[in-house]
Amino acid sequence: MKHKNRSALRRAIFASGIAACACALAAPARPWSDAGQSPDARARALVGQLTEAEKFQLIHGVFAQPDQAHNWPMPAGAIGSAGYVPGIPRLDIPGQQQSDAGLGVANPVNVRTGDVATALPSGLATASSWDPQIAFAGGAMIGGEAWHKGFNVMLAGGVDLQRDPRNGRNFEYAGEDPLLAGTLVGETIRGIQSQHVLSTVKHYALNDQETARTTIDVRIGERAMRESDLLAFELAIARGRPGSVMCSYNKVNGDWACENDFLLNQVLKKDWRYPGFVMSDWGATHSAAKAANAGLDQESAAEVFDKEVYFDAPLKQALARGEVSHARLDDMVTRILRSMFAVGLFDHPPQKGPIDADANLAVAQRTLEAGAVLLRNERTLLPLASDLHSIAVIGAHADKGVLAGGGSSMVIPRGGNAVTGLEPATWPGPVTYDPSSPLQAIRAAADHAKVEFASGDDPVAAAALAQQAQVAVVFVQQWAAESFDAADLTLPNKQDALVAAVAKANPRTVVVLETNSPVAMPWLDQVGAVLEAWYPGNAGGQAIANLLFGRVNPSGRLPVTWPRDLSQLPRPQLPGAVAAPGTPPPATVDYGIEGADVGYRWFQRKQLQPLFPFGFGLSYTSFAQTAPQVTVRDGLPQVSVEVRNTGARAGADVVQIYAQLPGNPIRRLAGFAKVTLAPGQARTVEVPLEPCLLSEFDVAKRRWIIRGGSYAIYAGRSATDLSAAVQVKLPAKVP
Ligand code: BGC
Repeated sequence: MKHKNRSALRRAIFASGIAACACALAAPARPWSDAGQSPDARARALVGQLTEAEKFQLIHGVFAQPDQAHNWPMPAGAIGSAGYVPGIPRLDIPGQQQSDAGLGVANPVNVRTGDVATALPSGLATASSWDPQIAFAGGAMIGGEAWHKGFNVMLAGGVDLQRDPRNGRNFEYAGEDPLLAGTLVGETIRGIQSQHVLSTVKHYALNDQETARTTIDVRIGERAMRESDLLAFELAIARGRPGSVMCSYNKVNGDWACENDFLLNQVLKKDWRYPGFVMSDWGATHSAAKAANAGLDQESAAEVFDKEVYFDAPLKQALARGEVSHARLDDMVTRILRSMFAVGLFDHPPQKGPIDADANLAVAQRTLEAGAVLLRNERTLLPLASDLHSIAVIGAHADKGVLAGGGSSMVIPRGGNAVTGLEPATWPGPVTYDPSSPLQAIRAAADHAKVEFASGDDPVAAAALAQQAQVAVVFVQQWAAESFDAADLTLPNKQDALVAAVAKANPRTVVVLETNSPVAMPWLDQVGAVLEAWYPGNAGGQAIANLLFGRVNPSGRLPVTWPRDLSQLPRPQLPGAVAAPGTPPPATVDYGIEGADVGYRWFQRKQLQPLFPFGFGLSYTSFAQTAPQVTVRDGLPQVSVEVRNTGARAGADVVQIYAQLPGNPIRRLAGFAKVTLAPGQARTVEVPLEPCLLSEFDVAKRRWIIRGGSYAIYAGRSATDLSAAVQVKLPAKVP
């Protein structure tokens, strides 16, 4: 940093022709280089130095890959990834080297260059940890790798709520609850930015399905969106302070998200006082003046993805015609520079250098160990004893690796793709398996056992193998990717028949799920145990073996409700997903049906019994929680719960606090805390409650408001496994 400032000063002195004497040094030639100044002051000082052409250079980016369709080479200066915004060397403004994303440095250019990165498990695995420290560590790992690879912007921070288990990008997000998702994604962002790599939060907003994502108009009332999807963003932004917000493809109440004055100007910049910049998703900009005036600050990868480079000639013309003000152009640039200063892009430029792969793989492993969810464990089939003498491992290429999701977030993992040649081979593929073999890890964990593998392609052969073994471990999988949704909840390729055949041959069957999100499990009652491992990540095989053999006690809790079938969802038919060929895409999707009652709140409202509730997850030990102790301080409830490990193994429990507001029967998660306890140990945990979750959003006054009255507070081990209610009176208050 010092070196950079010094060289900048030297260059300024040289350029102005002033002799390098003491009085010349005293002049603050480049006040924006002074790291002691605030990011705002530095950005304001710098924007005044820019020519109009330079300002325009900063407000649109290019696709940072060679474009075969146009025969365009790699843009000069880009290191190759999703996006590039050239810098301005005369003022020491660094370029933005932008890469995907939230599960690791996901750089499609790597398919050709052979570069690799550490792949974290799904975002849903991180969310299932209910552990902000796990989320932060994952973010810091990604940020560190990005920085050492030369990237200074990560297109991470996916926080769209799960309104439907069929959404093809659920694995990139953090589930259905605004508090859990906002908290953990905020921590991931904080982790990334701790490495001086700017992170986005995305896709703003309500991009909750992939079907018709670039055309669909999401309809939802203001209060409902403020209390659901927008709240997840609000909390993630408050916690993570991302340098940028990526606006999404879809429309919201009639306007494209990237030219939506309500979302960008009114909510984000005015109500939330967001000081950073808004960048568009790739192909999500539809206008120049309208978008700029509505709050879009930077157009992404325009030549390749948008109809025109709107933030070039069309915006210049709009400026000349007075449709967009010069002040607004300066605001766009100031916001971009301000975030670059705030995160450290000027003072701590990326340095290519070695990466500690082992340490980073350990982060990926710990994430799954904290986030895999044990859904069923009959007659304590798990943990497996290390002195078993025969185990059958079946299915899902478990001999080679573990499945990853596809699309822009897909990481070329350390060790390369373990199973090549599967379709689709091109985007949103190639279908990728992280090379961490559960079979090998199981063999290593069960030293004395004969561990044999069947691919599962032939259910009869798999059942025969299972019959001879003491235990069968069947891996099943569901590939999902950006750009499409699943038609239904059924596992593909007749895997249900495989599990049923294996379970019939050997009731001591453990199923390990590698899925995007909840799936139907028609064989559930026939198997002994089920572990949801999501997409397990670069050290997934090892983590799964550790969990199966009890070296690690499962502590994940579902961040989503697991429905019994599609009829329980607000939209049993996903608009457009199963449309007949030639049928026009759906024009709108109505999120007003469930409104803010997403996931478990919908199930409560409709009195539906899910297969597994939000917040659910088993352990190899048992816990007892007391009813919450609630006192009121400064008008807000202070909640504590005593948790005791009543079993024989160390383990972690999650205290979940649900609140019911006066006049509203629906319970919502208002706070949570994860606690690790030795056998017999007890601890009293104070669980901070998030004031927004005790409030309702007052649309007329445009703010959260605690109405006052009698609130019911529950401690829970899931959304449906709750203590008796403790009533507490709160005064009316603006939190
Ligand atoms: C995705 C974004 C991603 C961008 C750049 C888009 O298709 O929706 O999440 O960051 O591509 O790769």
